Amino acid sequence: MSSFVMYGTLLNLFLLFIVLQFGSNNGSKTEQTLDLQNPNFFNPKLPPRTLSSNKKFEGSSDLVNLRYHMGPVLSSPINIYLIWYGKWAPSQQLLIKDFLLSVSTFNHRAAPSPSVAEWWSTVSLYTDQTGANISRSVLIAGEYSDRKYSQGTHLNRLSIQDVIAEAVKSKPFTVDHKKGIYLVLTSVDVTMQDFCRAVCGFHYFTFASKVGYTLPYAWVGNSGRQCPEVCAYPFAVPGYMGGSGAAALKSPNGDIGVDGMISVIGHELAELSSNPLVNAWYAGEDPVAPTEIGDLCEGLYGTGGGGGYMGQVMKDRDGRTYNLNGRRGRKFLVQWIWSPIIKACAGPNAMD
Ligand SMILES: *[C@@H]1O[C@H](CO)[C@@H](O)[C@H](O)[C@H]1NC(C)=O
Repeated sequence: MSSFVMYGTLLNLFLLFIVLQFGSNNGSKTEQTLDLQNPNFFNPKLPPRTLSSNKKFEGSSDLVNLRYHMGPVLSSPINIYLIWYGKWAPSQQLLIKDFLLSVSTFNHRAAPSPSVAEWWSTVSLYTDQTGANISRSVLIAGEYSDRKYSQGTHLNRLSIQDVIAEAVKSKPFTVDHKKGIYLVLTSVDVTMQDFCRAVCGFHYFTFASKVGYTLPYAWVGNSGRQCPEVCAYPFAVPGYMGGSGAAALKSPNGDIGVDGMISVIGHELAELSSNPLVNAWYAGEDPVAPTEIGDLCEGLYGTGGGGGYMGQVMKDRDGRTYNLNGRRGRKFLVQWIWSPIIKACAGPNAMD
């Protein structure tokens, strides 16, 4: 009996200890949540992506044979010419333009760290054979809307060049063969050869016979209706994974298709700048299917990524996932880029 009382007292003391411990933990947590600038960090585990990417490489290795093949990089200030193919809402266009204009700090007051401009600093580490770096100055030099689907609603790699040929004929949109790159963005209802199955975006250059000039260009499509679980991943995840516990993440701007495009646009822009004529920076022996500085880091958004984890990213008070800040308070989730200096994937939200 007395031992029972004794035991009870000890138990009470123990419980009191737990309450005190819990209480003090709680106290420090409250202090942290009072700091509204402080986002929550997390590293979600995600189901495997459906897009089978044979170019995907996770982590760091000296075995990655990324080499320079003597061709040009985009070392002059970069003029982006946007071609809006199909139907686009002004709010969607604004979101994409805010991302593009966040790359260069010349366009705005510097966004808080980690920023899109800091993310681009990994890209600007690449040089050509004269030692000139990829430019840090990126601006939108022109916009063209192809609202009537001039080449139909099903496109392929060659008809994309007809889209560009059509656009550059219309003034004031021009052929800028010194500093221009052309970004063709297709709306949700446009299908593209291999879209969803093998690609979410690609870059190449136009042929003189089609467009009159050799112009570096990239295409990215809005996958929102066709295959968000492939191309707007991780804002949508494959349905068959239901019950595994892994859920889609809340996108930073509430538009799964366009928020998903942002990372693909970042990927293509980085590769277009470091390999515009497909004879500069790439790994592997095959220039027809080069592994480029974005391919090496696909699916990686922060420290501790790989093996099903996307890496340490941030969640704001409304649960929206992001890893970069942009102009006008915008937030974006953009994959990391291979750094030629540390020979690993890098981004400004790195924890170490
Ligand atoms: C240019 O590239 C070199 C070599 O990667 C790098 O050391 C330097 O910091 C880069 N400069 C800028 C402005 O990015």
